[in-house]
Amino acid sequence: MKIVETVAAMKQLRKQVAEPVGFVPTMGYLHQGHIALVDRARTENATVVVSIFVNPTQFGPKEDFKKYPRDPQRDLTMLEKAGTDIVFMPAPEEMYPTAYDTWVDLDNITQRLEGASRPGHFRGVATVCNKLFNIVQPQRAYFGEKDAQQLRVIQKMVSDLNMNLAVVPFPTMRETDGLAMSSRNTYLNPEQRQAAVVLYRALTLAQKLFAEGERDANKLRSRMTDLINKEPLARIEYISVADSVTLDELDRVETKAVVSMSVIVGSTRLIDNVVLG
Ligand code: PAJ
Repeated sequence: MKIVETVAAMKQLRKQVAEPVGFVPTMGYLHQGHIALVDRARTENATVVVSIFVNPTQFGPKEDFKKYPRDPQRDLTMLEKAGTDIVFMPAPEEMYPTAYDTWVDLDNITQRLEGASRPGHFRGVATVCNKLFNIVQPQRAYFGEKDAQQLRVIQKMVSDLNMNLAVVPFPTMRETDGLAMSSRNTYLNPEQRQAAVVLYRALTLAQKLFAEGERDANKLRSRMTDLINKEPLARIEYISVADSVTLDELDRVETKAVVSMSVIVGSTRLIDNVVLG
C-alpha cells in the first residue's frame, strides 16, 4: 500500500496504475461503513484509492473541524487489511494553498435540509470532491447512502459538469441496534449512545406505517416527531419526507421518498435516512 501526501505525487502515481480506478473519499477515523465501501471498490476495480482528508471548507465556523476525531495510524492499518492500493492524505495547505479562489456551488439541491442547517457545507463538499476527482481521476467513486443529500449533490455535480466517472451508491452500515455507523458516534457518552438509537426507531416506524399503507407525508413526519420527542436526550433539527431525486418535500408519498432527519443527541448532531418505496 502506497501512502501519498502531495498532489504532485498522486498525479504522477496515477499515470502508472492499472485501470479501472475505484476511489473512496473519506475524512478518516474509519469504521466498518467506510471499509464496506473499500471492499466494494476492491471487487470492481484494478486499483483502489482511498483519500483521508478532514476538509476544512465543509465545516462551519462553529462546527467541529478542530475536534473532528483523527487516528491516521489506525486508519492505515484498516485500509491495508482491506487491500487498498493507494492512500492519498494531503495536508490542508496542499489542497488549499494561499489565495485559493475557486468553488463549486450547486443551487437548488443544496438549499434545504443539511444545506439549510449547515450553510456553505455542500460548497466545501462539492469543491473538495471535484478537486479529488481531478487529482485521482477515478472511473468509479463510492459514496454512502448514509449521507443521502451529499450523494445526490455529488451525482448532480458529476452530471451537470459532464465529469468522466460513475458515482456508485452504497447502503448504510449499522450497529447491531440499528444506529448508523459514523465517526461522530465517538462523541456520544454511554447514555447518549443508547438514546441515539431513537433515529433508527423513527425511521423503522416510517417504514412500518408506509408498509401498512400510510401515504400522507405529514402523518409520517408527525408520528416520527412524537416518537423522538419521547427521548429526553434527543432534539429534532429537521424531519423530512422528500422526493428521492430532487429532495423536494412531499405532501404524499406516491412512489418513492427519502425519509431523512437530523437529531441532536446531547451536543452531537446525528443524521440518518431510509428510502420508502
Ligand atoms: P466521511 O464522513 O468520512 O464519509 C466517507 C464516506 O463514507 C461517505 O461517502 C459516507 O457517506 C460513507 N459512510 C459514512 N458512514 C457510513 C455508513 N454507516 N454506511 C455506509 N457508508 C458510510 O462524507 C465525507 O466523509 C466527506 O463529506 C467527503 C465525501 C469525504 C468529502 O470531504
